[in-house]
Amino acid sequence: MKILVTGGLGYIGSHTVVELIKNGYETVIVDNLYNSNEHVLERIEKITGVKPEFNKVDILDRNGLEEVFKRHSFDGVIHFAGYKAVGESVAIPLTYYENNVAGSLNLYELIKKYNVKSLIFSSSATVYGDSFASPMKEEYGLGVTTNPYGTTKLMNEMIITDFAKTNRNISAVILRYFNPIGAHESGLLGEVPNGIPNNLVPYIARVANGTLDYLNVYGDDYDTVDGTGVRDYIHVVDLARAHVLALKYANEHNGCEVINVGSGTGYSVLEVLHAYEKACGHKIAYHVTDRRPGDIATSFADTKKAEKLLGFKVERDIADMCRDSYNFTVKNPDGIK
Ligand code: NAD
Ligand code: UD1
Repeated sequence: MKILVTGGLGYIGSHTVVELIKNGYETVIVDNLYNSNEHVLERIEKITGVKPEFNKVDILDRNGLEEVFKRHSFDGVIHFAGYKAVGESVAIPLTYYENNVAGSLNLYELIKKYNVKSLIFSSSATVYGDSFASPMKEEYGLGVTTNPYGTTKLMNEMIITDFAKTNRNISAVILRYFNPIGAHESGLLGEVPNGIPNNLVPYIARVANGTLDYLNVYGDDYDTVDGTGVRDYIHVVDLARAHVLALKYANEHNGCEVINVGSGTGYSVLEVLHAYEKACGHKIAYHVTDRRPGDIATSFADTKKAEKLLGFKVERDIADMCRDSYNFTVKNPDGIK
């Protein structure tokens, strides 16, 4: 089976390409290298022994994208390509809507034109907004988003749902990721944030390796186990496995399903910090500061639907996530070069 992976050289995309190849799929990657580089391709080859076809194409370039569809007959598309920085999306919302919504529309039109059966979309727990209590259940529907990035995910979910309603041949699975962290156990693939990281674990990783002095803990007065924010962290390789299972499910069904992908367990900021201290073998300095605007106290997934429909269960725990994150950070101080 041949799968198009947009954004396949990025953090989650590259790990998913590895899992797809391991499971016998042929992959074709489209990426404009906005937040990745071609060395990732060599790393994928090192791990799998296979170098997937790579096309440096922007999904906003409808003709360029169509050339790829003309040359192949795809059984499925996994759509990762997009911008993902929450703060940046507030500063340049139109750029986010153009890339994440207009770019996706190009892709969906080609999926329709070339009769591709399966579509897997990268959504986020951010679509629950601050409207619901954890565990977050898919049947809650869509909440009120707090930033343009989140709204682009919400809009894609609505577009795909409508698209699947009128195109009975298509089978779509919208995966709502909770907090992906960690790296490939080989230390060859991982997350390389641009500049100072916004997310917790990439920031802790830089404190652990001495690049940053201390972690700012955004508030310790939430109604949680120790007052700090609680999130559902999932190892990126487990998340990648969920895509392979989602693809199998999509191939065997029609319609559209929305499925959470998380571990179902919440960890506080300080619990993550202490797990990371164990992984790196030394203390990690932190200061408690004000709450970050837009943050909620607790977010973790109800994982029953993923287990029931996909047979998905996480295999890696918080210790594995911190170990693999640290290993990648140590082995790649300057990112993937
Ligand atoms: P990433 O930035 O590492 O990967 C995205 C890839 O898409 C990059 O390689 C980038 O170069 C490429 N890209 C961006 N715009 C493109 C365009 N117009 N045309 C072609 N390629 C383009 O991000 P990631 O963490 O791997 O996330 C993948 C997807 O999952 C994104 O859609 C993101 O919004 C979503 N998601 C991520 C998280 C997370 O915490 N990382 C959580 C929920 C959802
Ligand atoms: C954030 C985004 C979310 C996006 C997700 C992608 C916000 C408000 N939310 O989720 O939309 O889908 O990233 O990965 O940006 N924390 C600190 N210090 C830090 C960084 C984070 O204390 O330097 C805390 C946060 O307050 C939160 C937890 O760590 O309680 C996790 O934060 P983060 O990794 O940014 O993820 P989310 O906020 O869940």
